[in-house]
Amino acid sequence: MSKDRFEFGKNWKSFSRLINDEAIRMAEDRMASFLGTRNLSGRTFLDIGCGSGLHALVALRFGAKEIVAIDVDPDSVSTARALLERSWQGPNKSVRDVSVFDLDKEGFGEFDIVYSWGVLHHTGNMNRAIEMAAKYVKPAGLFAVALYGKTPYCQLWKRIKRWYVNASPSQQARAERIYIRLFGWYLLLRGKRLSAHIANYNRKRGMDFHHDVRDWIGGYPYESITPAELARVLEPLGFERVKQNVRRRSGLFGSGNDEYLFRKRDASRAAPGHDHPSIG
Ligand SMILES: C[S@@+](CC[C@H](N)C(=O)[O-])C[C@H]1O[C@@H](n2cnc3c(N)ncnc32)[C@H](O)[C@@H]1O
Repeated sequence: MSKDRFEFGKNWKSFSRLINDEAIRMAEDRMASFLGTRNLSGRTFLDIGCGSGLHALVALRFGAKEIVAIDVDPDSVSTARALLERSWQGPNKSVRDVSVFDLDKEGFGEFDIVYSWGVLHHTGNMNRAIEMAAKYVKPAGLFAVALYGKTPYCQLWKRIKRWYVNASPSQQARAERIYIRLFGWYLLLRGKRLSAHIANYNRKRGMDFHHDVRDWIGGYPYESITPAELARVLEPLGFERVKQNVRRRSGLFGSGNDEYLFRKRDASRAAPGHDHPSIG
């Protein structure tokens, strides 16, 4: 029977062994630059598609009052639970095995911050997933979302990813080696070295190049979006863009996540444009 999705959780389980103080610090720097603050005290935080649980941990370290992390992959859920158990003593955390499409069944209220990094384009119905996630943002709260940007090669990559999730482990390993070799040649043509790129990647992102290559080649279902398309989904739902970090890329070796921070308008506030004393 053909598979219709990549097993992200296995990759996160293996990556989580590499999570050390340095990786946590890097993840903190990245979230701080995305949200524009290191202070989430008093705020509730929903992490949709938590993967390893690293972002949920960072939110706790930034003082979030309560975090709920959800993921549809049981390996991601157990990995995130294990990370939070060993790295955070407080009771203000929970990790649930639930899809973004089934959030309604959980009886959650709304959150000050709904955060979803690199997830909603992997659900099989990105626009509906965005709408579902957005429902859980409080008035004046923030929706922080990272989504693959559209490139001319998105359709080609979609086909490669579909092939990969149904390939044997040895075919998958071969595909990863070929990708890395081609990427190395591409860098060489630009006067750069792959080894330096990998060292820099791990240091700067707090992530691991090889795990991310697997995550990229395998990451199926796959969709991508432009800033205008995202605005067309969120603006009618009462959101306004606070900021975006969108990069132009060729897409030959893959797309990348563009980061968007939206705020939900608070209809109860009289003065339009009056800023909530909040982050972003
Ligand atoms: C590329 S990973 C990103 C993980 C994490 N947000 C990060 O940035 O490290 C995508 C995650 O989304 C999860 N996911 C995919 N579809 C989902 C859905 N329908 N509901 C919740 N999580 C989902 C996957 O299981 C996976 O753990």
